[in-house]
Amino acid sequence: MRIEIISNKEEDTINIGKNLAKFLRPGDLILLYGDLGCGKTTFVKGLAEGLEVDPDIYITSPTFSLINIYEGKYTIYHVDLYRLEEFEIEELGIWEYLNSGIVIIEWADKLSGIPIENFLEIKFEYFDFSKRKITLIGYGEWQDILKEWKKSSNLIYK
Ligand SMILES: Nc1ncnc2c1ncn2[C@@H]1O[C@H](COP(=O)(O)OP(=O)(O)OP(=O)(O)O)[C@@H](O)[C@H]1O
Ligand SMILES: [Mg+2]
Repeated sequence: MRIEIISNKEEDTINIGKNLAKFLRPGDLILLYGDLGCGKTTFVKGLAEGLEVDPDIYITSPTFSLINIYEGKYTIYHVDLYRLEEFEIEELGIWEYLNSGIVIIEWADKLSGIPIENFLEIKFEYFDFSKRKITLIGYGEWQDILKEWKKSSNLIYK
């Protein structure tokens, strides 16, 4: 299952995240791909909003903190692998966090393997100053969840 959406502005990307949040449960894994400034963190802002994280909490790429933890309806573990070497990624013990919340990973290209079958991939591509193509690909149970989302959502621009 694959869905392509054109985001025309920052707010669209936030809304896509916010909308998808309704379908998230602890144990869910979301892998984010795309170049610098493509909108990965912007999308996480929307997810956090949808999961009722305090709006005063500043959502930013955890480039130095490695993992940001936000408490909302569920716990969100926001990870950024951009600056990390393979051994550092292993030391993070990312997969343990799936036992207690939702895990969202920026620069997921740097993972050497994914130990679970059910996950969602989201690819961000740069069109121009304020346009992005967002492609969602579901694996395992996420194929059906995406189908449901597509039915319920009015955000499909393409
Ligand atoms: N349609 C859009 N969707 C998302 N962001 C957009 C859009 N149009 C413009 N922007 C701008 O692009 C930037 C996206 O930055 P963001 O931090 O979300 O990217 P990122 O993919 O997380 O980058 P990094 O890899 O550096 O962490 C923001 O400044 C945002 O305002
Ligand atoms: Mg980011």
